[in-house]
Amino acid sequence: HSILILNGPNLNLLGTRQPEVYGRETLAMIQEKCVNHAADRGVSVEFMQSNHEGVLLDAIHSAKETHSGIILNAGAYTHTSIALMDALYSVEIPSIEVHLSNIHAREEFRQVSYISRAVLGQICGFGSHGYILAIDALLAHFDT
Ligand code: DQA
Repeated sequence: HSILILNGPNLNLLGTRQPEVYGRETLAMIQEKCVNHAADRGVSVEFMQSNHEGVLLDAIHSAKETHSGIILNAGAYTHTSIALMDALYSVEIPSIEVHLSNIHAREEFRQVSYISRAVLGQICGFGSHGYILAIDALLAHFDT
């Protein structure tokens, strides 16, 4: 199996971006954790980040040919992007939504996710460990 881990806008700034909300780990550190965790389980991971909605859409489209699962932290696009939701519906790849913060405990506008409608489930509030939980959840899903 190969899993695509997609990160949306502003997640390239992790480490210095509102550390009280998102922690002090950089995206590169999270990437390393994910790659190692997956490798230990015989799975490969492609990890990417873009600030551009269209680039994220293209990545979801091409995953159809190359990946058996998607983990998506769409950042603020979570709360706005019908296009990302439609892309997930279109490719029909098992997908999991991740957020570092507990979006349900934050501002009202963060409590609505278009992404949630198109995924197996959502993991939020556990910081970078959410990505690890998502990898394990996808692997369990593959085995069923
Ligand atoms: C986030 C939560 C979003 O509301 C926010 O816009 C982000 C990060 C998270 O990982 O907690 O950019 O997706």
